[in-house]
Amino acid sequence: MPEKKNAELIPIYIMGKQYMVPPSLTIMTAMEYAGYKLVRGVGCREGFCGACATVYRLPGDYRLYIGLACQTMVQPGMYLAQIPSFPIQRAVYNIEEITPTLATIVRLYPEVLRCLSCGTCSKVCPQNLDVRDFMADIMRGDIASAANKSFDCIMCGLCAMRCPTEQGQYNVAILCRRLYGKYLAPKALHLAERVAEVKAGKYDVELAQMKKKTKDELKELYNKRDIEPE
Ligand code: SF4
Ligand code: SF4
Ligand code: FES
Repeated sequence: MPEKKNAELIPIYIMGKQYMVPPSLTIMTAMEYAGYKLVRGVGCREGFCGACATVYRLPGDYRLYIGLACQTMVQPGMYLAQIPSFPIQRAVYNIEEITPTLATIVRLYPEVLRCLSCGTCSKVCPQNLDVRDFMADIMRGDIASAANKSFDCIMCGLCAMRCPTEQGQYNVAILCRRLYGKYLAPKALHLAERVAEVKAGKYDVELAQMKKKTKDELKELYNKRDIEPE
């Protein structure tokens, strides 16, 4: 990469130290430009894995902003720190041994009933999820609705970081999604039939042929596959 002239660079502060970086970079690429080798706090680089939660402030602005480092552009004077992991309560349970009820959720995460419905969590979610709303579903015992509304959660932890009642919203939400998937969602009968067919050897010849294909041939096959109408 050709050296940038200083005039083309902007100052940012990474964990208190100033670096001059090109303004066209995301926080993540700016950190790498500044010499950081990211091992934690980086994953998909596409806004899906939630590994790169970051907090920052801007000059002359009292607010604390949040963002995913791989999706947020740097700004002049940005003062930032990454929070790749947020310490939070995570219950241990065996999904086979619990029931899909509010009582289960409250036993594993009693603090859910302390939620104030303040909405701070919804304001910070980079996925634009209405976290307050699914927390309200959880307090009502509507596991199916909470599972549905939290489906796009990427477990970044930013909602927990700002919660005044110290909830671990994303861990409670994934419990709901597990309970929903295991006990409440309608069973996909056609899938069970197809699995039984596979086990009975109905597709053995096709599977053997596919195993011999190259990666590019498999890609082509995938791209040309029949897609069921929605
Ligand atoms: S920030 Fe915490 S207390 Fe406020 S609505 Fe969200 S979960 Fe409830
Ligand atoms: S619900 Fe919380 S953990 Fe999930 S994406 Fe939103 S802020 Fe991140
Ligand atoms: S690295 Fe995966 S969301 Fe940023």
